[in-house]
Amino acid sequence: MKDLIEKATKAREKAFAPFSKFKVGAALETEEGEIYTGCNIENASYGLTMCAERVAIFKAVSEGKTRFTRLAVVADTENLTPPCGACRQIIWEFCGDIPLFLANLSGETASFQMGEMLPKAFDSKFLK
Ligand code: THU
Repeated sequence: MKDLIEKATKAREKAFAPFSKFKVGAALETEEGEIYTGCNIENASYGLTMCAERVAIFKAVSEGKTRFTRLAVVADTENLTPPCGACRQIIWEFCGDIPLFLANLSGETASFQMGEMLPKAFDSKFLK
């Protein structure tokens, strides 16, 4: 958990967040033990912003990775920052019920399963 949080913390430094000033980092571990990181990337239209979690997942998927084991998310908040609703959907669909570690810059951490972050999820099982 510590290794993944460290990588997410480092990735957070690369956040492009001039509008919100809210920097987030994520680190995603593949089944092979590789780690893909992401940071949030904003733009002037605001709405096209991409969260750190999705950047990490899309980087990994674009490199052919499809099986993931753990995800860490780091932000500078007293109450640990959880993934937004859009990210929960994407994490669920690409990673399933993996452990999710949240952390802040003061070293506080918490862990959850994705299944508890997105109960009664819609996913491809519903598509016929
Ligand atoms: N953000 C993330 O990158 N991940 C989260 O889990 C929550 C929100 C970003 C989006 C935006 O750039 C900024 O944080 C403020 O919402």
